[in-house]
Amino acid sequence: WPYYLTALAFGYLLGAIPFGLLITRLAGEGDIRQIGSGNIGTTNVLRTGKKHLAALTLVGDMLKGTVAVLIAGRYGGPDIALIAGLGAFLGHLFPLWLRFRGGKGVATYLGILFGLFWPAALCFIGVWIGMALALRYSSLSALVASLFSPALLYWMFDRVQMAEMMALLTLLLWAKHHENIRRLLTGTESRIGSKG
Ligand code: G3P
Repeated sequence: WPYYLTALAFGYLLGAIPFGLLITRLAGEGDIRQIGSGNIGTTNVLRTGKKHLAALTLVGDMLKGTVAVLIAGRYGGPDIALIAGLGAFLGHLFPLWLRFRGGKGVATYLGILFGLFWPAALCFIGVWIGMALALRYSSLSALVASLFSPALLYWMFDRVQMAEMMALLTLLLWAKHHENIRRLLTGTESRIGSKG
């Protein structure tokens, strides 16, 4: 138990670093939560029109998931890596210092996948890009890609525990996208490239 709790706390602390908020603030863009969807993630940082800030946010939010999983896995093995990944995801979604109002989890989800089993991460990217090229909705691309990930881990790659943990993350990711889902259903979701 102490190992599990330590891994969870370690992941949480890493995951709770709000890169999108910090990067835009340092770059003098003001509070990203006042822009577009109000989210602190890459898609919303892109709405500032500053592509390099969006890229930095993507890398930062991904890396915290990857680093949490790799470090925990190195010291504690595969189970501990999964717990640290869960911690990082919870930290990103519900950071203590933003009164638990964090991001929607897409980049961190991908970073965790990279740390756990990179072929699954490449599949996620493939589905995301395919969906984004076809329909140009960032949220929908992530929602669909996150359905494929646990399914592929389970049926194609035979990683049952990993699939179960990623299924839990997918559930949380979907829950965090409830406003996007409503906008998609009513046809009011903003497309990639629009200021929305
Ligand atoms: O990365 C989160 C994305 O799926 C949706 O972001 O800002 O359009 O709500 P946003």
